[in-house]
Amino acid sequence: MASIAPGRPQDVQNERGNPHWTSPPRADALDHIPGTDGWPVVGTTITQLADPIGFAERMAARYGPVYRTRSFGRRSVNLVGADANELVLFDRERNFSSEQGWGPVLNLLFPRGLMLLDFDMHRLDRRALSAAFKPEPMRNYCGLLNADIARGTQSWGAGPMAFYPAIKALTLETAATSFLGLPLGPEADRLNSAFVDMVQASIAPVRRPLPFTAMGKGVAGRRLMVAYFTQLLRKRRADPGQDMFSQFALATRDDGALLPEDLVVDHMIFLMMAAHDTITSSMTGLIWQLARHPEWQEKLRGEARAAAGGDARPLPFEALGQMVLTEMAFKEALRILPPVPATPRRALREFSFGGYRIPAGTGVGISAASIHADPAHWPDPARFDPLRFTAEEIAKRHKYAWVPFGGGAHMCLGLHFAYMQVKVLVHHILTRYEISAAPGYAPAWQAWPIPKPRDGLQVLLRPLL
Ligand code: HEM
Repeated sequence: MASIAPGRPQDVQNERGNPHWTSPPRADALDHIPGTDGWPVVGTTITQLADPIGFAERMAARYGPVYRTRSFGRRSVNLVGADANELVLFDRERNFSSEQGWGPVLNLLFPRGLMLLDFDMHRLDRRALSAAFKPEPMRNYCGLLNADIARGTQSWGAGPMAFYPAIKALTLETAATSFLGLPLGPEADRLNSAFVDMVQASIAPVRRPLPFTAMGKGVAGRRLMVAYFTQLLRKRRADPGQDMFSQFALATRDDGALLPEDLVVDHMIFLMMAAHDTITSSMTGLIWQLARHPEWQEKLRGEARAAAGGDARPLPFEALGQMVLTEMAFKEALRILPPVPATPRRALREFSFGGYRIPAGTGVGISAASIHADPAHWPDPARFDPLRFTAEEIAKRHKYAWVPFGGGAHMCLGLHFAYMQVKVLVHHILTRYEISAAPGYAPAWQAWPIPKPRDGLQVLLRPLL
């Protein structure tokens, strides 16, 4: 279905020294792609942000699996379907830049994170950082997560609660200890609030860091984080702990050299961003499904009790593999509400897809949310059915029909950490509480930039212990 025109990515460097830099094509170079420029000035931006999934569905239904939009002042092309996902994510021929896709959103606040690096630079740093996800460090994080999550969930108590803000606060606390090795307290609170400002700013419409704007606060937050992390890095290098920052601090390149200080700091800040809202959103999606499906809640509770040998005990690292149904339910929740609904790239050279020639420099988007709702791969797609993720069912499907963690070189580095954290959370929550929601309750979900329930997800907790 796809073919790439012969030729090398352009070797010209832009002013920032990126050897792969490719300028966007002239707007009329995309005239032959079906689609719309939307409204004068704003293009399709507002319609897309208001309802990204509905917009994508309408566009694909009207124009087909290759369509053009115009958001944030620029035309780009969206490719729909499992083959499109494979072409762009697997990127066998290194034709798509992640840095130039994500850069406009993330470069100001999260520069040099792994998603903001391409090809050889990316491969070198990803290899070095992968050491932090080997079994021994993972076992240590598991211990830290268990302690924080046991304490945090115990304090929730009985009665109605808004689940989303509670899990967001708990995830920030666990990040302080398992990522940074910091005790909870005013210092962790100060860092957390700087971090929240940065995340908020990354999607702010005003992109200049003017005083009193979200971007102004975000840039100030970044300054604070960089200064603090640089000091902390020196401490961790001298006296490493069990946290992920200590692992990053000691990570080495192939020649045995430690990564430069400023780069480790940038990688750590980026990782916190990549981990935080994704876990919060996906865990909220899972709890929503479990509140609606008490039969699955009971199955997962039984599995959690058996894996940990009882209620509200730490879930041992060795027992994670026994949480098979939990993993299937989590995968299904990620299918229904993928925390990263769409992935941007920029084409470094001309390519063809679905019969269209797409010029070098074009912004290209693929959508997990679209493929996850496609009845061709997922019969009755709105139905929560974890049994879609038995080994047999997985083997029958296109590999790129389920892409909540992306794929290829940039596939989520923290996915095993995510599974682990969610299993520890499910264990502590479900063995302590029964979760329900009012009959007929259906929260509205904000889709952009990361799915979250507009009312915080109103559930009822009934203590079991
Ligand atoms: C359910 C939770 C999560 C989801 C759905 C998720 C999703 C993703 C996706 C879709 C990408 C690839 C984006 C692209 O190709 O452009 C990605 C990359 C990444 N994620 Fe996750 N993520 C999750 C949790 C985490 C956690 C917990 C961590 C860290 C502990 C993490 C660290 C990263 C990093 C470092 C990258 C960049 C990898 C690279 O560019 O090589 N993520 N994630």
